[in-house]
Amino acid sequence: MVAVSGSDEAPGRRPSRVLRVAGPLVETEYAGDTAMYDVVSLGPSGIPGEVVSISGDVVTAQSYEYTGGLTPGDEARSQGAPLSATLGPGLLGGVFDGLLRPLSGSGDWLLPGAARDRDTEREWSFVPTTGEGEHVAEGGVLGEIRDRGPVRLRVLVPPGVSGAVERIAPRGGYPRDAVVAVVGGTEVRIATSWPVRRPRPVRARGGGPEALHTGQRVIDLLFPVAHGGTVAVPGGFGTGKTMLLQQIAKWCDADVIVYVGCGERGNEMADVIAELSALEDPRTGGRLAERTVTIANTSNMPLMAREAGIHTGATVAEYFRDMGLDTVLIADSTSRWAEALREFASRTGALPAEEGYPAGLASAIAAFYERAGAVTTLGGDRGSVTVIGAVSPPGGDLTEPVTAHTERFVRCVWSLDRDLAYARHYPAVSWAGSFSRDAAPLAARRAAAGDPAWSTRRDRLSAVLAEADRLADLVDLVGITALPDSERVSVLAGRLVREGVLQQSALSANDAYCGPDKAAALADAVLAVIDRCRERVASGVPAATVEATDFGPVLRAREEVGPYDTAGVTARRETMLARLGEPR
Ligand SMILES: Nc1ncnc2c1ncn2[C@@H]1O[C@H](COP(=O)(O)OP(=O)(O)O)[C@@H](O)[C@H]1O
Ligand SMILES: [Mg+2]
Repeated sequence: MVAVSGSDEAPGRRPSRVLRVAGPLVETEYAGDTAMYDVVSLGPSGIPGEVVSISGDVVTAQSYEYTGGLTPGDEARSQGAPLSATLGPGLLGGVFDGLLRPLSGSGDWLLPGAARDRDTEREWSFVPTTGEGEHVAEGGVLGEIRDRGPVRLRVLVPPGVSGAVERIAPRGGYPRDAVVAVVGGTEVRIATSWPVRRPRPVRARGGGPEALHTGQRVIDLLFPVAHGGTVAVPGGFGTGKTMLLQQIAKWCDADVIVYVGCGERGNEMADVIAELSALEDPRTGGRLAERTVTIANTSNMPLMAREAGIHTGATVAEYFRDMGLDTVLIADSTSRWAEALREFASRTGALPAEEGYPAGLASAIAAFYERAGAVTTLGGDRGSVTVIGAVSPPGGDLTEPVTAHTERFVRCVWSLDRDLAYARHYPAVSWAGSFSRDAAPLAARRAAAGDPAWSTRRDRLSAVLAEADRLADLVDLVGITALPDSERVSVLAGRLVREGVLQQSALSANDAYCGPDKAAALADAVLAVIDRCRERVASGVPAATVEATDFGPVLRAREEVGPYDTAGVTARRETMLARLGEPR
């Protein structure tokens, strides 16, 4: 997908000359028609670059590609427009670089795609939904397109355009750049182009929160996020960030997932892609890959394209949002993206601020998360972009600038804990170090919809975990036998919640994904077992006897019972309660 706009070369753009090449930084003459952030093509092969400074009669561009072979005197041509993404059919199921050019997977590596793009020649089936003479406004639906998979794409009236439909193409197959409608004098093509750093407009933001169901119990039960919310996932190396984000990409109840692999290892990305294409979407029966757009800027690809990839991903997510869809934008990892910002700052001689990051770091992070939101689209539909970003602080230091700024701008933090990961408690989401500002509004919404139990369950689970954490230090110091029986049960309760509810194996067919009803049933079963344990001890049964019970039926329910099987969980709860016996 050719993302660099202005390919229909504007007349009168005078070519200028390359003056100096220093790695990815290229200085060219100012030809009077270039603005900040415009795309320039450099040299005979048209290497794309982005203007990062204009000073006197010298324009400095950052190249998105390797500049080997480029020499002073080569031609430089401004495209007269900022970096733009071509948005249309062919994105779903595809793998692209940060400029939205297709990549092809090959073994363990992702390779740059052929310069020629198959999708520009392919024909897409267009079905008009409006008639000539009808009046349409911006965001209105002109027709639909079938892409691969279950998602039906819409061709919309572009922002700022309204009027009578002067011409609309009949049902049929058309290439992506075909004009399929003319509205108020403006031609509308199947694919549209949008500058990646500019958020696409909406009619209104906000609205009643709806939970994004992730299928990961610790999140859905304790730290839920709403569609349109923002999440940071900080954690040191190996704490399970990538695994958690991949689980969410596979199972969450969004219509479209945009997965931006940013500076991570290439073989990891290739694995995700292979796995997604093999997996079936439980909701549609299609392939999971058919609802996923993957943007890969692995550690071996140029830094500038990595920086752009985040914005390109947000633009793609907004494109689907504007069709009235719920989208999730996942970025792994935003720290690698921030490192790209730092690298440019030092190359261009900008004054460094905290730890060498540019002074604009905080606003750059804020601008990224601000592209999230639940919205009313220009056409009047509900749509959303949820943004989930991994943060991988060097050395696991959560006070470093990227983590610290990110935590200010997000509504949820799922903090991954090194000790939990080390103890193989996965997902290693720390219940003490994580938070969700969406929890209260979502609880209120659930209560209003007739499910007040969600909030009570969450409070009880949190209380059990907090009490067990408080006692853990004491147990380390004096040993469990020194505690009174009531506190010994509290320690046991913590273990039952951790092992029976919060732990979740990404590698188990039954446990990798958990349906919302099964999650509630598991939590309720464990809480009922805890209550029974307390009652037994209160009625005089020694804590040691209760501790010696085999809790297997309830602890193994998550792995031995199917992801939607609430009846299976309830049966195990009854077995377990019978085993413990009635209070005396
Ligand atoms: N939910 C999980 N279930 C099973 N294993 C996990 C889970 N999360 C993480 N792991 C283990 O931890 C390892 C490191 O996780 P990874 O996501 O690559 O860490 P990070 O991205 O934070 O560096 C994985 O290879 C896997 O063995
Ligand atoms: Mg990772």
